[in-house]
Order: sequence, then C-alpha cells, then structure tokens
Amino acid sequence: MKVKVSRKAHFNAAHRLYRPDWSFEKNDAVFGKCNNPRFHGHNYDLIVSVTGKIDPETGYVMDMKQLKDLIKAEVEDALDHKNLNVEVPEFKALNPTAENIAVVIFNKLRPHIDPSKELEIVLYETPRNFVTYSG
Ligand code: NI
Repeated sequence: MKVKVSRKAHFNAAHRLYRPDWSFEKNDAVFGKCNNPRFHGHNYDLIVSVTGKIDPETGYVMDMKQLKDLIKAEVEDALDHKNLNVEVPEFKALNPTAENIAVVIFNKLRPHIDPSKELEIVLYETPRNFVTYSG
C-alpha cells in the first residue's frame, strides 16, 4: 500500500527565455514576451509529493516538517527573489522554462529523499500553466 503526501511551497523569481545562439528576432518569435531583455517575474507555486509505504512505527510516509525544511533549504533559499538566468548556476547555460525549473528542483531534492520513495514535482508558473516532472 502506497500513499502520496504533498507539500505546497511558493517562490517568486525573474527570468528571460532566450537562446544566445539565436537572433533576437528568432527568440522573439519563439519566446514572445518572455524574451524581454530586461527580464520579468513570476509567482511560482510548487507542489512536492513523496509517495511510499507508511512507516508502521510513525504512521508517516515522510515527516512533513523534514520535507518543509528540505524545500526551504534546497528550493526557496536557492530560487526565491532571484534572477534565475543571472544568479542561479543551474541556469547559466539552461533556459529557465517551467519545464527546466521543475527538473532542476527535482534534481536538487532527489538526493535528500529516501530512495525507496517516489518524488514528483508540480510547478505552476501561472495559475493556469503548470508542469509535472517525476524523474
Ligand atoms: Ni516568463
């Protein structure tokens, strides 16, 4: 029997979507407003889910306080109020799309979660646009 437990978190960050090897016109055609050279921000909502067996001793799949602290240390401290392109090393050579941000968050958290448990990242870039990554 497996149970999925989830924790919601939030951060805001600035980004610009572009490829330096493309012309401004091509970047504009593909990324539109997100290619603004002066950057723009999003309020990201994050749902981190861990799926696994309930520990018979504690009754927990994972201690939510531990998950909360992990998200704070690995995600919020690294990304909140940051310019993703300029300040976050993972995006030096990686376009900070919602898809890539979700993968980066997954890779930051995965080593800290019990390998017997599944990890899933849902990242909302806007209230209507969200991406899901689970490895
Ligand atoms: Ni954007």
